[in-house]
Amino acid sequence: MPALSLTLSGTHHADDTSPGGTRAVVDRLRTDGIATVGGLDSRTKVLAFAGQVMTLVPHRDSDADGLTTIQDIGRRSLRPGLGGLGAGELPAHTERSSVPWPPRLMLLVCQRPADRGGEVLLTDGRAVHAHLAEHAPEALEALALAGTAFYGDGGGHTAQIFTRHPDGRISVRLRQDALAQFSPLVRRHLPDLTRAIGTVQRRVLLGAGQGYLIDNHRWLHARTAFTGRRVCLRALGASRAPLPAGFAPRPPGQTGAERPDRERGTC
Ligand SMILES: [Fe+2]
Repeated sequence: MPALSLTLSGTHHADDTSPGGTRAVVDRLRTDGIATVGGLDSRTKVLAFAGQVMTLVPHRDSDADGLTTIQDIGRRSLRPGLGGLGAGELPAHTERSSVPWPPRLMLLVCQRPADRGGEVLLTDGRAVHAHLAEHAPEALEALALAGTAFYGDGGGHTAQIFTRHPDGRISVRLRQDALAQFSPLVRRHLPDLTRAIGTVQRRVLLGAGQGYLIDNHRWLHARTAFTGRRVCLRALGASRAPLPAGFAPRPPGQTGAERPDRERGTC
């Protein structure tokens, strides 16, 4: 996987609570599907920022304030679906892929970095879609076939990796752990998907107070294994500002236009 880093210029800082600051974050969500944040070095600040951009949706693992503390909880994390609360590697996925309507926004902010590892890997679903359109169009068609993926256990959800909306926009939904099952029609194309993700994935090392806000219907997130007491806070929710469904696919001919940013960032 290339050691690309995410563009961290234009990071929203916690001190900027102005309407203009929040508007800039929303603008970035609309155009890029992602915004980076900094200065959120306490739970109170994370909660305040989250409340500006989203209506929080509680999660099974969240605390009373709606935030989830992401840290290694030990052996219980080995159970299916609890890998995020361990110290192992997490493959690229959509948050809450197993519910009918995964939350549109996800905010993840580091409070305490790992001693080693724990890097965030972010993948723009729009870039994956474009890569497949150029290099594996047959795979792309298969990955958009309705009902070819099942995410979760008995109460899970039938879906497809790429959902095509009536207006031509696209959403991505993926998980790659023990709770993901795929039709044979899709399974033979998964190596193409893995290659596309590996090509466009970007690596970010977050310091304390630094994080990212993603459109969970466009960006996939992942994590490398780590050692030490890594602690992050996560918020999930609906965008307060209206967002059109999914993302607009790149026009044909611009599929190779993903330009890696060489800036190594610490927000
Ligand atoms: Fe996750």
